[in-house]
Parts: sequence; C-alpha cells; structure tokens
Amino acid sequence: MSEAPTGFRPGLEGVPATQSAISNIDGQQGILSYRGYRIEDLAAHSTFLETAYLLIWGELPSAEALREFQHDVQMHRRVSFRIRDMLKCFPSGGHPMDALQSSAASLGLFYSNRALDDENYIRGAVMRVLAKIPTMLAAFHMIRRGQDPIQPRDDLPYASNFLYMLTEREPDPLAARIFDACLVLHAEHTLNASTFSARVTASTLTDPYAVVASAVGTLAGPLHGGANEDVLLMLEEIGSEERVEAYLDEAIASKRKIMGFGHREYKVKDPRATILQGLAETLFSRFGHDRMYDVARRLETLAAEKLGPKGIYPNVDFYSGLVYRKLGIPTDLFTPVFALSRAAGWLAHWKEQLGANRIYRPTQIYTGLETRNWLPTEQRSGHNGEPTG
Ligand code: COA
Repeated sequence: MSEAPTGFRPGLEGVPATQSAISNIDGQQGILSYRGYRIEDLAAHSTFLETAYLLIWGELPSAEALREFQHDVQMHRRVSFRIRDMLKCFPSGGHPMDALQSSAASLGLFYSNRALDDENYIRGAVMRVLAKIPTMLAAFHMIRRGQDPIQPRDDLPYASNFLYMLTEREPDPLAARIFDACLVLHAEHTLNASTFSARVTASTLTDPYAVVASAVGTLAGPLHGGANEDVLLMLEEIGSEERVEAYLDEAIASKRKIMGFGHREYKVKDPRATILQGLAETLFSRFGHDRMYDVARRLETLAAEKLGPKGIYPNVDFYSGLVYRKLGIPTDLFTPVFALSRAAGWLAHWKEQLGANRIYRPTQIYTGLETRNWLPTEQRSGHNGEPTG
C-alpha cells in the first residue's frame, strides 16, 4: 500500500478541528468532564435538563434558573398535529433514526424565522429541540405499532415523561432516575463524528434544526451511535458464558470488531461504561437479572487479556443496551435515545460555533487524473466510468 501523503491523517485522528470549552476527555486516565465537572458527579447528582443547561450555557443553573428552564421545556413538549400527521405517513417498518432525522429537520419548516444573533431565538430553539424530540420519537413508535401517540404529561419530569409516552405507564421512580442518568452520560463527548457534523452544518449559519438533523444522520451509523444495538445482537449471538472465548478468538482471528469495544480517544475503559455497568447492576437487583449481563462480563474479562494490551476496552455502548432493554426500551430505539440525549451537546456546540464562527472548508490532496479531453460517447472505449488509459 502506498504511503499516505504528507499531512493527511485519515479520520482526522489527532487533528484539532476546533477550539471548545464544552467537554474534555483524558483518554489515558479515563476521565470525562462537562464544563469542568466530572461525569461521575453529574450522573450521580444532576438531572439531564440541568446537565443540558450546563453544557449549553456553561454554568450549572441556580434553583430559579433551573425551575424556569424545566418549565419552558415542558411548555414546548407538544407538537403540531401536522407533525403527527407527517409521522403517520412514514413507513412503519422504517428505522426510528430516519424518522427522527426527518422530524428534526421538519422543525425548520414550522419555526422558520431564523435569527441567529438573538439570544431569545437561541433559547427558543434549544427548548424546542429538547422538548419536541422525545415527543416525536415516542409518537413515531406508537404510530408504527398502529396506536395513537400519547400526549406528554405536564406533571412528569423529562425522563419519566419520555418513558411514559413510550409505554403509557408512569415509570418506577428508580427506573426513571436511571434513565435520566443514562441521558446525562450520553449528552456530550467532545468532537465525535456527529458533533463534528453539527459544527460543520452550524458553520454555514443554517437553522438549528438542520444542525440537529445532520448530526442525527451521522450518529445513525454502526461505528458511532448504532453500536449499542449491535452489542445486544452480538451478546444474543454468543448466547452463553461458555461460548464467549471461542467467539472472541474467532472474531480476533478474522479481524472482526467486537461491538461496544474500542474508542479513538480512550485507551482505558470508558468511564461511562463503568457508570452504566453500576446502573445495570442496580436495575437487575431491583427488576430481575439479565443473563446476557453474565455473557457481557465474561466477554469484558477475556477481552481485557486479549485486546487490553492494544488499548481496547468497553466503551459507552457496551452496557447501555442492557440497561435500555431492562427499562423496556425497544432495541431499535437505543440509538434514537442516544440522539435525544446528545441533542444537548449538539446544541451546545451549535451555540459555541455561532459565537466564533468561520465556515468549515478543509482542503484535500487530489489523487485523481490530470485534465483529460472530453470525448463523445461513440468514441469512448471505457465503460462504467472507468478510465481507459
Ligand atoms: N474489536 C476488536 N479490535 C478492535 C476494535 C474492536 N471493537 N476496535 C478497534 N480494534 C482494533 C482494530 O482492528 C485495529 O487493529 P490493527 O491496528 O491491528 O489493525 C486497531 O484496534 C485500531 O482500530 P481502528 O478501527 O483504526 O480505530 P478507530 O479509532 O478508527 O475506531 C472505533 C474507533 C470506535 C470506530 C472502533 O474501535 C470500533 O469500530 N469499535 C466497534 C464499534 C463501537 O463500539 N462503536 C462505538 C464507539 S463509542
């Protein structure tokens, strides 16, 4: 294989593409912080909405500011009947990430009075995205099952309300608290692929709904947000603790990646995986064990021996699927739930990008042919666009 041209870093690995004060990762120590606060503290003590406020405005809110923020988000939860009608037209077999991407983009049609230099506009857009994404996602889920969407309940906090709209049952307070902690854990993670997408889109000064929609599209891939679905499928495929070693050896020998392992930034276990593992254990002790957890534990132990020396350890997706399944969230909603939470980070990056904007326009190293003469079809000897030399 030829050497990569000088200066080119595939995947932009190690290339700073922005300055940001929103979150920070120490990949050697396994530390993640939002605005300087350790993720362990936020997951234990803050709610998702409080965390979203911190990410977007840079400080933890006062009690009054938090009350006002929660109230404003609550006021924006309902969606227009036109959006519900639009969701009814989506194919029921389509992936909810596609439904989410389309419905997020559609907000630009309903709220088109863009005013990016107006703080009130920014605040309003933040409210709408945080408030309406859960409603649209839950509505699509109900509609695809042939049921009417469940209206949000004003008396329920953010996480409880989402689980309620998904199941029509008010969730157990412990389950709701754990789900809220999951949202905190997924809310932001420096300049990952979807956040980079969000910033590139933001840099064109388009509307915030297009920013979120482009980020949702990027998050959907199996190398990014889609991995948590694949982890559960993988654990089911392994089936039992006894079969873990053979599966792992075969995967390593055939250079197949173990889903939920590895991270560009972390060379140790992702701190979010450690927290999620604790949350999973709390859930299982309260609501019943999941034997796939035993398979996951065995896989982690064996992988530590075989992949650990290369710096490959469980990432956030490894245990999140098990937690979501125990919470009653269908598998194909795992990644949309990730998006619902990461929307907080995307909005924070949107706002930060606007504060010091320059349109993204990187360069490339051209590897194609030099200028050629155009020939009419009857004189061309090549086909399918391949050069004929
Ligand atoms: N299982 C086995 N080996 C893995 C691995 C995994 N999950 N992740 C990385 N590796 C190995 C690669 O095979 C490669 O080995 P090599 O140098 O011998 O060829 C090396 O580690 C570097 O991998 P690479 O794919 O170049 O790393 P990356 O930084 O580009 O990719 C991820 C990072 C997250 C995309 C990658 O680890 C991955 O695909 N993980 C599985 C999907 C996943 O869980 N994604 C969620 C991320 S939060």
